[in-house]
Amino acid sequence: MQKPNLIIFGAPGSGKGTRSAVLAEILEIPQIATGDIFRSNIKNMTPLGVKVKSYMDKGELVPDETVVEMVSERLSHPDCKNGFILDGFPRTLSQAEALDKILKGLGKPISAVINLVISDEEIVRRVSGRLVCPTCQATYHKTMNPPKNPDICDKCATPLASRPDDAPETVLKRLEVFKSSTLPILKHYEAMGVVEMVPSEISSAGLKADMEALVKRLGFKAAK
Ligand code: AP5
Ligand code: MG
Repeated sequence: MQKPNLIIFGAPGSGKGTRSAVLAEILEIPQIATGDIFRSNIKNMTPLGVKVKSYMDKGELVPDETVVEMVSERLSHPDCKNGFILDGFPRTLSQAEALDKILKGLGKPISAVINLVISDEEIVRRVSGRLVCPTCQATYHKTMNPPKNPDICDKCATPLASRPDDAPETVLKRLEVFKSSTLPILKHYEAMGVVEMVPSEISSAGLKADMEALVKRLGFKAAK
């Protein structure tokens, strides 16, 4: 059975990364998180990392051309042949149109855009307590989704850190950019009839069951 080609859509801190990781496990398809790829390039001081760092630090979008080139290359990898989850892409109408062209070329239509809906107050609560693993990118929350041992990654035992762009003034900037440049592209996908609204305020304990129910509702098949 063909697996789905998904976009997970939502504001900064809405739970895209957390939910994509659960969905990727259920469906056994790769999660392609543009922000994570950029952060890993910044950590390794690659030319791409040097190019994108100043945009990310300010909470601004990386130029479309740079992101589109990176995603296009990533989607050509063999692990994307049978389904994928795009987390954090597209974020502008120009990126959405570029993605349409890439997917047309690959003969892979978008199966669903999962739109995570959450209040601004909850976003602030979530990003202000977020901890991330600098090695494997696993995401936690100090109180709402804590690691088993304080400040240590459950998966790879690396000490956890905060994200530099989670400083309160940068979060406000990211929210503003989301509302002005990213939210409007939902119309593009609504016109295709592929948007599925998902309330994102459910607690982390209920996340797996919630994502399993979503997979079922959309008519996809869990890998196991
Ligand atoms: P990116 O890394 O994509 O950040 P973002 O969109 O701002 O979203 P976040 O990663 O902050 O949040 P999330 O929705 O993944 O939430 P999470 O699961 O972590 O992008 C960063 C930057 O990269 C951009 O600002 C831009 O500069 C650049 N960039 C990336 N893509 C780009 C593109 N396409 N074009 C241009 N520039 C681009 O959850 C948040 C917190 O809540 C965590 O602590 C988590 O543990 C907790 N949590 C989640 N769900 C639950 C729950 N159900 N219950 C309790 N806690 C929960
Ligand atoms: Mg994320």
